Amino acid sequence: MPIAKISPSLLSGDFGILAAECKRMVSHGADWLHMDVMDGHFVPNITIGAPVISCLTKHLDAFLDCHMMVSHPEKWVDDFAKAGASLYCFHIEATQNASALIDQIHAAGMKAGVAVKPKTPISTVMDLGDKMDMCLVMTVEPGFGGQRFMAECIPKVKELRAKFPNLDIEVDGGIAMENIDAAAEAGANVIVAGTSIFKADDITGTIETFRNKVNSEQALLAKK
Ligand code: DX5
Ligand code: ZN
Repeated sequence: MPIAKISPSLLSGDFGILAAECKRMVSHGADWLHMDVMDGHFVPNITIGAPVISCLTKHLDAFLDCHMMVSHPEKWVDDFAKAGASLYCFHIEATQNASALIDQIHAAGMKAGVAVKPKTPISTVMDLGDKMDMCLVMTVEPGFGGQRFMAECIPKVKELRAKFPNLDIEVDGGIAMENIDAAAEAGANVIVAGTSIFKADDITGTIETFRNKVNSEQALLAKK
């Protein structure tokens, strides 16, 4: 049974003190740290690259869940592996040969994730279900934090979970107290949240609530 992993998105943190923000999230109970990598081509925004990941891994020992919103994901695999990234999640829309890219990521020593944008059908990744370590179902258009959750993406999670009971399925975008139930009931177990965690009055409690909701839904799904 896939267990809950709560992965706060550092995009909502203070980039001037990024390592401290990472440590703060770990101290609040974060399982993973979600690093949003944007290249200005795949999405209309630019964030960080491997040099920043490399600096971070000198300061902390945490699972870095790297969400690669970049046009040529093949290009950066080795740099991210050397920098200490744990999981390299590329977009299916950005590559011609997803299967070869998963092999490349595994050969570099990282876990491989495949992300789908809201308008991309889930059928595009179904044949990778046994090969990828994680599927990321976007619940906003990638590029910016603080956007509204798109509930219409949730059936994709359900379809994936029905076919792959042990796969890590991540949701990312607008996840908050109002919609965590929908995501968890559909079968998501890796929860990315930027705004709702960083702006919470009780960050530890928010992470704990997300985790409990996911784990109870996974227990129910396992009985079915
Ligand atoms: C959006 C990013 C998300 C974003 C989530 O492109 O992939 O990870 O930071 O932030 P919230 O939770 O605020 O939507
Ligand atoms: Zn992300």
